[in-house]
Amino acid sequence: MRYSLSRQYPATRLRRLRKSDFSRRLVRESTLTTDDLILPVFVLDGENRREPVSSMPGVERLSIDELLRETEELVALGIPAIDLFPFTPPEKKTVDGAEAWNPDGVIQRAIRALRERFPDLGIITDVALDPYTTHGQDGVPDENGYLLNDRTIEALIKQALSHAEAGADVISPSDMMDGRIGEIRATFEREGLHETQIMAYSAKYASKYYGPFRDAIGSSGNLGRADKFSYQMDPANTDEALHETALDIQEGADMVMVKPGMPYLDVIQRVKESFAVPTFAYQVSGEYAMHMAAFEKGWLDADSVILESLTCFKRAGADGILTYFAKRAAQLLNT
Ligand code: PBG
Repeated sequence: MRYSLSRQYPATRLRRLRKSDFSRRLVRESTLTTDDLILPVFVLDGENRREPVSSMPGVERLSIDELLRETEELVALGIPAIDLFPFTPPEKKTVDGAEAWNPDGVIQRAIRALRERFPDLGIITDVALDPYTTHGQDGVPDENGYLLNDRTIEALIKQALSHAEAGADVISPSDMMDGRIGEIRATFEREGLHETQIMAYSAKYASKYYGPFRDAIGSSGNLGRADKFSYQMDPANTDEALHETALDIQEGADMVMVKPGMPYLDVIQRVKESFAVPTFAYQVSGEYAMHMAAFEKGWLDADSVILESLTCFKRAGADGILTYFAKRAAQLLNT
């Protein structure tokens, strides 16, 4: 039996447009640029300090002077914004996480130093209590360890205000308490902070991909084997993500976020399609760690995989991506 091709050539040969670089570029549907990138950074007390995070190779906790040096490079690369996370030493942790709104806390000082030196840089801060609590949870617990929603919101308001007053452009609540966006927005309006933006972690899942981040901020030991299932979302749900997002927009969020990133691209797509508001994705610490492990073993090609993974967020509908690869991606995109 001999097979022969039909003489009737297909009218559509999709490979025609794929053959040359010029036409691949012309028909490309999504583009990744440096404007899409937000770098999360870890800040700690002291001077001249750079501490590696063992589960996140290439990521370091920086003292404020080092952060300023690093930010110089980020700004030169054209990265629009950075997101600040603290490392808190054990002696500053309490059950209620009061260090979170210390006007002289490491985050508040970092904001002031960055604001003065880089007037045009977008400064984003995370609002949640977990870096500051002895139990590693994002809020204030009752005697059974269940987080008290409204009591936690009171604390988050103080934390958010202290960041905004120090000069943060965007505050980003990552705690998942009900109603916190509305309460923070109302407080900002009352205090005359009309221009302070809110990027809401709207669909934040109870994910084990956050493990390395908890090492970076020093909360893993505090959290122990406990989980965050009573406030972060079930990874099995997406309708609920839309419900959460609808509420955050209604309560006054300027931007919404889906987190983690790569295993949740379907959620990003649904959120973007449903609400058509600025939608961000967080490629979290575990996603970074997993990539780095494969790069170190030589199993994946770092530069191309980084750009591919970030482009896929754009294809899914994300307007921007929080990623620990932001600096490296910006370097690649600028060359
Ligand atoms: C804290 C917070 C977490 C992350 C961002 N903000 C961890 C958590 O909820 O336990 C995770 C970021 C990452 O994994 O890179 N509320």
